[in-house]
Amino acid sequence: MQTIKFSRFGFILAAVGSAVGLGNVWKFPYVTGEYGGGAFVLVYLITALFVGVFVLIAELLIGKLGQSDAVSMFEKLAVNNGKYWKFAGFIIIVPLIILSYYSVIIGWIFHYIVISFTALPSSIEESKEIFMTLLTSDVETQLFYHTVVFALVMGIILRGVKDGIEKINKILMPLLALILTILFVYSMSLDSFSSAVSFMFNPDFTKLSSTAVIVAIGQAFYTLSLGMGVILTYAASLPKNTNIVTSSLLITVIDTLVAVVAGLIIFTFLFDQGAESTKGPGLVFISLPAVFYEFGSIGTVLSISFFVAIAFAGVTSAISMLEPMVSYLISRFNYTRQKAALICSLFFYILGVLALLSNITEYSSFMMIGGKGLFDWLDFLASTILVPIGGIMAVLFVGHAMDANRINEELIPLLGKTLTKVWFFMVRYVIPAALVIVILNETGIFKF
Ligand code: PHE
Repeated sequence: MQTIKFSRFGFILAAVGSAVGLGNVWKFPYVTGEYGGGAFVLVYLITALFVGVFVLIAELLIGKLGQSDAVSMFEKLAVNNGKYWKFAGFIIIVPLIILSYYSVIIGWIFHYIVISFTALPSSIEESKEIFMTLLTSDVETQLFYHTVVFALVMGIILRGVKDGIEKINKILMPLLALILTILFVYSMSLDSFSSAVSFMFNPDFTKLSSTAVIVAIGQAFYTLSLGMGVILTYAASLPKNTNIVTSSLLITVIDTLVAVVAGLIIFTFLFDQGAESTKGPGLVFISLPAVFYEFGSIGTVLSISFFVAIAFAGVTSAISMLEPMVSYLISRFNYTRQKAALICSLFFYILGVLALLSNITEYSSFMMIGGKGLFDWLDFLASTILVPIGGIMAVLFVGHAMDANRINEELIPLLGKTLTKVWFFMVRYVIPAALVIVILNETGIFKF
């Protein structure tokens, strides 16, 4: 039983803090760019609404009814075979794996805050050079910032649910909203804003492929922190009488809004300087800094604000990746929070060090497996394979293993009979099938 609860507002903020992260401000804009703009955005919006909200409801249900750590909740909420279902709870290792390289990326962002203050690159070539040098040869800088993130995230988790997680979200999320609003208003004043709007909202369906649909489903899971025991762990500390349906809608709407606003800001800046929209992962770290330079002195302010905003988004997501395993060690092994936080943090720290070393040219030759470095493997394994698997287990669990009467009691008053039936149908059959397709496609076993 989780005795320390979030406040109602605190819970929403913490869940939004987890959801809004690099997935929104870094990944969403570049996949939108890669998959052709408007059509992808439209598919993504539909997916977020039908898949995102439905799975969020499922995870909030597990947390609300289970009120414990992830493993214990899977074990005790299963009507039969709890001793097998508990293994589904071990999915909480996934966010810890993601955190290892996520922390390194947050480190790059810290470094870019400093670069914004000192010297922005004056051309795209120089920008590329700066980023590639950091990535492939600058061990010290990456190690330094990775250590800073490690200390920061561990320090917050040490303070627990209320004084740590809730408090930091109450500070950082409003600041993030403020910075994004200012950047958004500024970008609206630029001529290129209308091009950004039409790029993101004029769907050109000839550009839409089945891959884009699959990518959209994967993105919805990643950005809403689903399928890895994160949201259900937070939901275990849900205050009484929280409406899980409106909470799910609110979390999805805010998360989507942030992704769309971040996309509009980024594409406005890019188009203003005639840069391209299809630059992939380098969009934020290579294209944008050079674009900020072109803006002159205001560019420095824009750049600092932008990187501070994504640092905030990253940190609040990072703490949510650490908490599930920490809460498991506390409740199952009677560890103190200090001990649990230290062990989990050391795990992600060490894995992160190996991940960053695998990008360093000097070492990469003996850290490559199948042409990919550890960093890329971790990302591929965790976000493209393990997250959908975790998602499948979570929805199959609520759909088939939990007591349906108990779920009906919770959901019918909120959704009505018909929608509850639709929800059951989705989590029992449609969403698991969709996720199997995602996995088959991403692993190349079967391309749709
Ligand atoms: N949702 C976060 C983002 O969009 C990522 C995340 C993954 C957070 C896993 C928690 C757990 O960046």
